[in-house]
Amino acid sequence: MLQGKKIIIGISGGIAAYKTLFLIRLFKKAGAEVRIVATENAMWFVTRVSLESLSQNKVYDKVFGPENDYTTEHISLTDWADAFVVAPATANIIGKYANGIADDALSTSLMAFDKKVFVAPAMNCKMYENFAFQKNLETLRQNAVQIIEPAEGYLACGYEGKGRMEEPHVIFQQVQSWFAHDRKDLQGKKVLLTAGPTFENIDPVRYIGNYSTGKMGFALAEELAERGAEVTLVAGPVNLSLQHPGIHRIDVQSAQQMYDAAMNAFPRMDAAILTAAVADFRPAQLNTEKVKRTGDTLTLQLIANPDILASLGQIKKSGQVLAGFALETTNEVENAQSKLKKKNLDFIVLNSLKDKGAGFGTDTNKITLLDNKNQITGFELKSKKLVAKDITDKLVEYLKEHQA
Ligand code: C5P
Repeated sequence: MLQGKKIIIGISGGIAAYKTLFLIRLFKKAGAEVRIVATENAMWFVTRVSLESLSQNKVYDKVFGPENDYTTEHISLTDWADAFVVAPATANIIGKYANGIADDALSTSLMAFDKKVFVAPAMNCKMYENFAFQKNLETLRQNAVQIIEPAEGYLACGYEGKGRMEEPHVIFQQVQSWFAHDRKDLQGKKVLLTAGPTFENIDPVRYIGNYSTGKMGFALAEELAERGAEVTLVAGPVNLSLQHPGIHRIDVQSAQQMYDAAMNAFPRMDAAILTAAVADFRPAQLNTEKVKRTGDTLTLQLIANPDILASLGQIKKSGQVLAGFALETTNEVENAQSKLKKKNLDFIVLNSLKDKGAGFGTDTNKITLLDNKNQITGFELKSKKLVAKDITDKLVEYLKEHQA
């Protein structure tokens, strides 16, 4: 898959640069050609000899100087490459890249590059959370740069938190899977997604909600769109943004609004995957004024919301693929299988809250896929981005069969 691909690996000045040596090895072993662009500070952490021996190419780390026989190396290099991977990416290089500053070999090359860029941040957790850094990261995201989120854990500075550069094999996998998807195997397909929680109003200031953040559904929306699908994303109240032109987002708040949007869109769709954590019940009566404290107890009467997935299952036509999620705490497989049948699904994605790193709010997930042919496939704990790829592969398999 990576045989003959041309990759620039950009290295900025962080201690994680030592791990980049392993990353270069992984690309070379997969048959890719690698050229290194480094900042001057990066060269404190790794030696030129290691980088040049592993990549089998000269390191480019100075825009001007006696060793540069001509001064447009950043252009010839960026024209040459298919993808650019910055690992580690410090707060500084991300800040320069997001704001159009080109004052060294790496920032200049990034500005001259108009193909796929991957960025693997590495820094202290406080720097990671800094408002300016987060704004810069969002700018990159909105410009289709793929962020390989740092992991949480022990940091070289002694802190524990988010900021540790992702392991080389994970970075490698994300780049590899991007090249694999470049095949656009969902071109022309229309896919409906629901994502996030729903909020059910009690009165003008209070609601019943849940801890869903929408991360899994949004990762799936991006994956589907990158592979060519036209995505209709019906999103509950979430704090996430996306900018892919292939995604049409409809924001809703309550289960009833999500139901209306999904039922309206589904007949035009080739497939639907419902990831939303929909409230099963809503207050029976909506108070137009704020409910006052009148005693030591308050009884709220709740009534059932429509089951969106089951309703789509009832109107599903032949050729349409329908999938849902099951978040379970006990008898996981049995419960998921019974939902699959009851709601007339083609496949269901099972999450167990018992698995560490799975479920709400995390950047990772661990899933089991169960389908209506009684196949059960378990997957490792991985980033939601890579989980989205596994789910999309399953959808592609089903669409091929249904629409053959
Ligand atoms: O039955 P349960 O709520 O566990 O089913 C989960 C699946 O059903 C998820 O895919 C969820 O998005 C969907 N669902 C729905 N409408 C509801 C409840 C769940 O679409 N009211």
